Amino acid sequence: MTDTSTATAASVPLAPRALPLLGHALPLLRDPLAFIMSLSGYREMVRVRLGPSSAVMVCDPDLTRQVFLNDRVFDKGGPIYDRIREVIGDGLSTCSYTLHRRQRRLCQPSFHPTRMPGYGAVFARAAELKAASWRDGDVLDVTQEMMTLTTRATMETMFSGALPAETMRRSLADTATIVSAFFRRMMTPGVLRQLPTPQKRRYDRARNRLSATIAEIIADRRADPTDHADLLSTLVGAVDEESQDGQKQLSDAELADEALTFFLGGMETTAITLAWALHLLATNPDVQHRLQVETDGVLAGEKLDPAHLPSLGLASRVVTETLRLYPPAWMMTRTLRQDTELGGVSLKSGSTIVLSPYLLHRRPDLYNEPDRFDPDRWLDGQPDRATYIPFGAGARKCIGDQFALTEAILALTAIVARWELTPVGDQPFQPKVETSLSSRGLNLRLSERRTGGADGTELRAAAPKSTSAQPSTQPSTQPGGSACPVQH
Ligand code: HEM
Repeated sequence: MTDTSTATAASVPLAPRALPLLGHALPLLRDPLAFIMSLSGYREMVRVRLGPSSAVMVCDPDLTRQVFLNDRVFDKGGPIYDRIREVIGDGLSTCSYTLHRRQRRLCQPSFHPTRMPGYGAVFARAAELKAASWRDGDVLDVTQEMMTLTTRATMETMFSGALPAETMRRSLADTATIVSAFFRRMMTPGVLRQLPTPQKRRYDRARNRLSATIAEIIADRRADPTDHADLLSTLVGAVDEESQDGQKQLSDAELADEALTFFLGGMETTAITLAWALHLLATNPDVQHRLQVETDGVLAGEKLDPAHLPSLGLASRVVTETLRLYPPAWMMTRTLRQDTELGGVSLKSGSTIVLSPYLLHRRPDLYNEPDRFDPDRWLDGQPDRATYIPFGAGARKCIGDQFALTEAILALTAIVARWELTPVGDQPFQPKVETSLSSRGLNLRLSERRTGGADGTELRAAAPKSTSAQPSTQPSTQPGGSACPVQH
């Protein structure tokens, strides 16, 4: 890139209220979303300081897109990625540009559109089983329930449900332990992270056991290369014809890293998206009612099937709108690999760049009434690719986007077909800001709907009830807790 600019990073305005030694650490820790939204008045870029180091936060959609599209220069790297690699290795989501293209070519077939109906069938079955396990009047820990749903569904799509029940149960428990410890471990300095505390021992045990389980499954697959029509079979069989160094297939170690990446990265983001979608439906009963009407009409007593997807327009818009309001990957970072220019400003190699879907998705000049849940804003067409970025963009765009959307739409449909959801209490729900935009602690009450169809029972869509308090879609924050190990 030719550098025709004269401005340097020092000319980028510094966000207000920086303290001498701490910089913006306090507002960022106390209430990161409020801090980020306070920057939405900056049209292009703003500097943020964390202690002695500073980062450039990009506020403009076109500049954000430029960063995403130039992944050779704006690469993944730095201390956050080093920590994530300790958990999931050097897989597709964490590797640097030099390793990325080969890995992406090898992983892409596992997410080919022809694979989606097969995965969709697993998602639909898992969601119906989950919805059938609840009882009228239950108060659900929604995030927990969605985590077990997506963990099970991800395991089955990856390993075709061939796991013995005990292995499945243990892996679900190990996954929960890893995910809940992850954010705390990411925030703990290196020396303290190594102290032999009971939490560390639990975490190490879960991490080692899950890795051993995955290694065992991979060894079994190598010994029996029949196509099981699952994600792992495609990964094991993938061949990279463009490989320059003879490494045409993924090694066992690479396979293990990719499997762990998909598994841990895919299940929490999708679970959180579903939890937020259910929260938004519970607090917007008119939309919930319309979704029930759509669901009843489309299913008409049939079992849920991926073939129903094209008719589930409102469910799809609800998911799109949920990902706008609560993008699980609310912030992403990049490290500059060489001096470059962005928006007329010269930036030095090694600089840190911060991108935020949350900031773009809630900018009032980009979205009309940005804090309002309005799935119908998507009636007129597809989201704009510069201003709507829940899955990122460019070569590092989420490889699991269609996988996640298929799973979320089917799960939402299975749930509203059976249940009406209402908020518990009338206090607005306070989300937690972690590496993901977490819905941990969200509770909703279930009432059974009397639906029918195939057996001739009358279809009844629950009438909308007015909520006494309409909780805001504007989250507040609280540090600590679980987070997705894939740095999205
Ligand atoms: C609603 C659910 C999901 C959301 C919001 C989401 C979001 C994202 C985002 C924003 C990125 C880009 C990160 C960056 O550029 O720094 C990403 C990358 C990635 N995601 Fe997702 N994701 C979701 C589900 C999934 C699923 C289901 C899988 C796998 C089964 C997955 C696997 C990955 C991987 C491997 C990458 C790295 C891709 C690459 O660098 O080539 N994600 N995701």
